Amino acid sequence: MRMPVIAGNWKLFKKTAEALQLVQELSSLVKDVEDIEIIVAPSFTVLGPVRSLLFDSPISVAGQDCFWEEEGPYTGEVSPNMLIDAGCSHVIIGHSERRQLFDETDEKVNKKIRAAIRAGLTAIFCIGETLQEREADQTFTVLNTQIKKGIENLSPDEMKHVILAYEPVWAIGTGKTATDEQAQESHAFIRRLIAELYSSSLADGIRILYGGSVKPDNIRSLMVQPDIDGALVGGASLTAESFASIIHFRK
Ligand code: PGA
Repeated sequence: MRMPVIAGNWKLFKKTAEALQLVQELSSLVKDVEDIEIIVAPSFTVLGPVRSLLFDSPISVAGQDCFWEEEGPYTGEVSPNMLIDAGCSHVIIGHSERRQLFDETDEKVNKKIRAAIRAGLTAIFCIGETLQEREADQTFTVLNTQIKKGIENLSPDEMKHVILAYEPVWAIGTGKTATDEQAQESHAFIRRLIAELYSSSLADGIRILYGGSVKPDNIRSLMVQPDIDGALVGGASLTAESFASIIHFRK
């Protein structure tokens, strides 16, 4: 049985007061939730305050990115150990916005995932095709390359600290969700690829999240798909009410 994961990616939103209000409201709305891993990914500057407020809560905190070096002359970067120091247990790596706007290549993604796991974090590794690639029937080729390069040289033990997030780029922030069938088809492809690269038992245990315009009204039909184990939520994670109702998808 794979434990579902619902993760909120706050992107470049929420200063301290708003962030604290959001997690305070969220913790009280989800205090009855069991058997779901809940994660929030605030911006770097509010990680510490958010984590302090959640110190006795089951809600985990993630960074939205990290660098692959632990320290050194790398102005502006944040290392995996700094994230741990701020109370993070997870880090999002390879989000399509970073790939598209900040020149993040599969090679950089691989270095970041390896450094994050080495430091003791769980990596939420994002992959997904653009609209152009989908229309050119390239979806599986793109996923195949992103996955093989992203997890290159990861041992089976290290793979236990990876959560995959399939996020079709054309569905992020656009209000267009992949249909349940499109999402399931890609998730099944990803799981089969992990089985080929590692083993079927590793593939059976790995969590694969769907991301891209996940909302309270589409989460249920996504979650009943056999290979969808949770969601990486952007816009709808910015209010406690909508994020909590996504977390309550079983109700
Ligand atoms: P969205 O973002 O839910 O706003 O589409 C998802 C993501 O970018 O992780």
